[in-house]
Amino acid sequence: MSDFVAIAADDELKPAQMKRVVVDGKRLLLCNANGTHYVVDEICSHEDYSLYLGCIKDGRIKCSLHGSYFDLATGRPTCEPADEPIRTYEVKVADGQVWVRV
Ligand code: FES
Repeated sequence: MSDFVAIAADDELKPAQMKRVVVDGKRLLLCNANGTHYVVDEICSHEDYSLYLGCIKDGRIKCSLHGSYFDLATGRPTCEPADEPIRTYEVKVADGQVWVRV
């Protein structure tokens, strides 16, 4: 567990909920998509806009500014206008907590 950081209790987020966290100075978003936890960059790759203001649907997160969706597992945009991926981070659930490696 050396470089993993605990960022939430494993039952803190309900499906489709998210939480903003800062780890090592990076603004990240913990997302619960149908019970699976993902961590991605908080800020959209298209413009400087928080994905926290969007919503989670079918394993993807939607940016509410221009409507791009990003796959939470890969970070890739699945529709325009964004054409760059957002970063994804390794997550694990252990000891009642959700951990991320940045
Ligand atoms: S800022 Fe996210 S799609 Fe434009």
